[in-house]
Amino acid sequence: MKYLGLILCLALLLSCKQNKILQSPDGQIQTTIQLINGKLSYQVVKGEEVLIQTSTLGFKLKEYGDIVDGFTLINRSKNELNETWTAVWGPKKENVNHYQEAKLELQHKTSGLFINVIFRNFNDGVAFRYEFPKQDGLDEFTIMAELSEFAIVGNPKTWWIMADFDTYEKLYNETPLSDAKWVNTPVTMRTNSGLHISLHEAALSNYSGMTLKLKEKGRKNTYVSELVPWADGTKVKAKAGLKTPWRTITISDNAAQLVESNMIVNLNEPSKIDDISWIEPMKYVGVWWGMHIGTETWVEGKRHGATTENTMRYIDFASENNIQGLVVEGWNAGWDKWGAKDAFDHVTPAKDYDLKKVAAYAKDKGVELIMHHETGGDAIGYEALMDSAFSLCQHLGIKALKTGYAGGIYPRGEHHHGQYMVEHYQKVVETAAQYGIMINAHEPIKATGKRRTWPNMMTREGVRGMEWNAWSDGNPPSHTVTIPFTRMLGGPVDYTPGTFDMMLKNFEKERVAWNADDISQTRTHTTLAKQLALYVILYSPMQMASDVVDNYIDHPAFQFIANANIDYDETKVLNAEVGQYITTARRSGKNWLIGSATNEEARTLSITLDFLDKDTEYEATIYADKEGIDWLNNPEQYTISKKMVKRGDKLELKLAAGGGQAIAITKSH
Ligand code: NOJ
Ligand code: CA
Repeated sequence: MKYLGLILCLALLLSCKQNKILQSPDGQIQTTIQLINGKLSYQVVKGEEVLIQTSTLGFKLKEYGDIVDGFTLINRSKNELNETWTAVWGPKKENVNHYQEAKLELQHKTSGLFINVIFRNFNDGVAFRYEFPKQDGLDEFTIMAELSEFAIVGNPKTWWIMADFDTYEKLYNETPLSDAKWVNTPVTMRTNSGLHISLHEAALSNYSGMTLKLKEKGRKNTYVSELVPWADGTKVKAKAGLKTPWRTITISDNAAQLVESNMIVNLNEPSKIDDISWIEPMKYVGVWWGMHIGTETWVEGKRHGATTENTMRYIDFASENNIQGLVVEGWNAGWDKWGAKDAFDHVTPAKDYDLKKVAAYAKDKGVELIMHHETGGDAIGYEALMDSAFSLCQHLGIKALKTGYAGGIYPRGEHHHGQYMVEHYQKVVETAAQYGIMINAHEPIKATGKRRTWPNMMTREGVRGMEWNAWSDGNPPSHTVTIPFTRMLGGPVDYTPGTFDMMLKNFEKERVAWNADDISQTRTHTTLAKQLALYVILYSPMQMASDVVDNYIDHPAFQFIANANIDYDETKVLNAEVGQYITTARRSGKNWLIGSATNEEARTLSITLDFLDKDTEYEATIYADKEGIDWLNNPEQYTISKKMVKRGDKLELKLAAGGGQAIAITKSH
């Protein structure tokens, strides 16, 4: 009797269980997609190690209730793609996009809805998305919750920032996963065996951003997607035909490979811009740091930074130092009303700023003027002015724009990371493309690889960047060696490295606090050589040198930035541990730049130049921390040395506590 029961159970199980195992092209990663008793779930294994155990998938819809149980399989298909596509800019121009795909076409019993789930296995991870195909009876619908689980095995060490619907400008925590209760993505983990996993999303459009929340009940350490709500509490206002963003699980054997992964960008559609000739990476400086440290103001008045005269001085500096771009903040009317509705006027210059003259002068000197549109979060006001503001840029020959959303969103109640703003940011990028404008967005939506589809979406902030060192307790040394493994997995970052006046002493007497933060203890928490290293490590195709130019004039270390070609063809991470150190090598043509940085600990890292061309002589110019210094003691002291190097040579990089090293390797003639 006992056995009969068992046999019956087994038979029942077999009849209701449909498994599909999807392999990565190299066979290392296996995703098991299961339909058991109408419930859809997946599991991820790398080699012998189970990384994600059975995790269920589903939704809660306003009009149709829970879409969790009662799926039946209508059809399933397989697909493989192995392509190489060329990016308009770096950090890697040639991108291999190789995956195995499984598509499950399902019908949900009680609602009758048809829903597809698509899984892709790459050598560097797994991704899945849902589709609500067009179907009879389905038009508009409302997602109240997405219920994608990520049941992590064990309790890996985790690097995370607290979930927030409006900002990613936070310091990272390093804790066991069980303490990372509610996080923004990317969230990155290291298992006991040393594998690295990062959860994020790709191709975020027409949807709200995803945070991840540990389930309070049931199995431990299981994240479930928690979407950023609309003001009315709903999550996504959807239409039939919806394809959700990809949910991504990047997997690598070590921290370096995590950074080298291009799975997220691969999951995005090819470029929608036909003529890309106007899209170009650039280095830039700005009438900017002065406002943050409080020596100048955005607002018109005696200490106004964006005067015609000061801007022309910056243009001269840029043109004399091989810097292609200049951003000028506070150039327009409205800064005195920052925070109010319709505060900013993106077409009317400040009284002491002759926009036409400045634009003509920049043209004459071969410098790109980067327009600045601070919206204060007023998306409604910005959309109303966008066309006239963009045509003004076009008219003046301005092809780059920094946007900003520092403040609560109008319409009130909407969030920076909710669907309303996801769609707004997208509208800005697409409209900008029509006007031939490249975008650098501050207070943005997270990077999800959309630069492949819209290569004018150059860079964005979405990180606790350099500015925090000007007016808060700042960013500790470990912060900048955590960002490459977390925030930057989504894409380029406008962190704006390059402070040379570390202690903010040079203009100390002129500083006036512009916000409530105490500026008496502020400083940048690195050595100067580390700032140069970060110029390479923290990749941005619009890469700012952040300091006021007065701190660069006749400064020998500025040669590294002046000479740098940041239009990278290739990137290699030579060594790395999350939150501890990283050494990144980037190639432009025949030449390489290397940046190596450490956290609060001094260390010596050794690298092998096995990536240089054979039988070729190179000259290395090395910008290193001076012996005996660290980020607390004489952080601005550094040495410059030169040596001939060739393929296979080993270099020992001595990094001070909170320090770094930057190396320019050029082919000698
Ligand atoms: C915050 C941005 O991150 C910063 O770069 C900018 O200077 C201010 N907002 C003012 O727009
Ligand atoms: Ca900011």
